[in-house]
Amino acid sequence: MRTQPTNDRCAVVTGLGTCLPDRIVTNDDLARHLDTSHAWIHERTGIARRRIAAPGTATSDLAAAAARAALTSAERTACDLVVVATTTPDQACPATAPRVASALGLTGAAAFDLAAVCSGFVYALSVASSMISAGTCRSALVVGAELYSTIVDPGDRSTAIIFGDGAGAVHLEQGSRSDPGAVLDHDLGSDGDGRDLIAVPRGERYLRMRGREVYVQAVPAMTDSALRVAKSVGWQAGDIDAFVGHQANIRILRSVAKRLGLPEDRVVANIEDVGNTAAASIPLALAWAADQHRIKRGDRLVLTAFGGGLTWGSSALTWSGTRPVHGSLR
Ligand code: COA
Repeated sequence: MRTQPTNDRCAVVTGLGTCLPDRIVTNDDLARHLDTSHAWIHERTGIARRRIAAPGTATSDLAAAAARAALTSAERTACDLVVVATTTPDQACPATAPRVASALGLTGAAAFDLAAVCSGFVYALSVASSMISAGTCRSALVVGAELYSTIVDPGDRSTAIIFGDGAGAVHLEQGSRSDPGAVLDHDLGSDGDGRDLIAVPRGERYLRMRGREVYVQAVPAMTDSALRVAKSVGWQAGDIDAFVGHQANIRILRSVAKRLGLPEDRVVANIEDVGNTAAASIPLALAWAADQHRIKRGDRLVLTAFGGGLTWGSSALTWSGTRPVHGSLR
């Protein structure tokens, strides 16, 4: 499904924030209690370390810190809408987003959660930017926040090596399609037949993932989605200055880039430092790219995700040059 823009009014990225827990868990740390090794993990996934939150941390803590940082980055104190994309809400009911809004002093703002697992940030960006384009609201915070350490089985070497905790957020305001930072279009899709490939089985506590089967589906789905969104805004694949893909596996990112015909220096990859942070993955990668000066004002970006559901999605935007702000839990 594509959301076709109908007028010049659109959302523009005006702020970018992150929050990572302090504690770093290396592959060697994991290899002390799991039948694995740094060499296996790094070679098969590209991951060297990930951040794990202290017990008692809530997803809303990470989300609020990242959203506050995004507001600071945008030099704003108010916002009409808060959308939190997460697989690990604070509780089943109510949603996490109103709590995040309150923590930021945004009482009265519209606030809701969005569940699309690793594609959550792209889905949430699509919804919030469509609401801005439609004039329903004038500004929004789109947050991806995850505490996978609460749903990953520490004894399961096929998932414990992959996932990490963290949050990232963007602040959006109303602007026009020619503004640097304009969010231009989206491509979203799902295939519920694959719902068991990444799932917390009903009545169980921990996530189960059939990694190899996910991998095989992720590469073509991400490639096709990226191509669809690029085409919809009139770009050839080679026009993409930076491909910011969901950080699930470095080999997936490289395979997608190869299919798109993109050189490696246009592929944003921070998976080595943070692992797979699900809905937080893309805004964290975006912030990393901005910090590393890998993206500059006016660059053409495609964000592409794939994950549980199965779900996938891509967004095409130009880059505003926004400097990220890094929040903390302290
Ligand atoms: N350490 C050492 N060996 C491991 C291991 C680990 N952590 N995990 C699995 N293995 C072993 C397996 O038991 C298997 O052994 P065998 O050949 O003796 O049976 C072998 O390594 C290969 O396992 P496989 O699962 O085929 O590995 P893989 O190359 O597919 O890598 C993933 C596993 C999970 C890293 C990879 O499949 C992946 O990244 N999948 C996609 C995840 C994804 O995109 N998720 C979407 C969003 S959440």
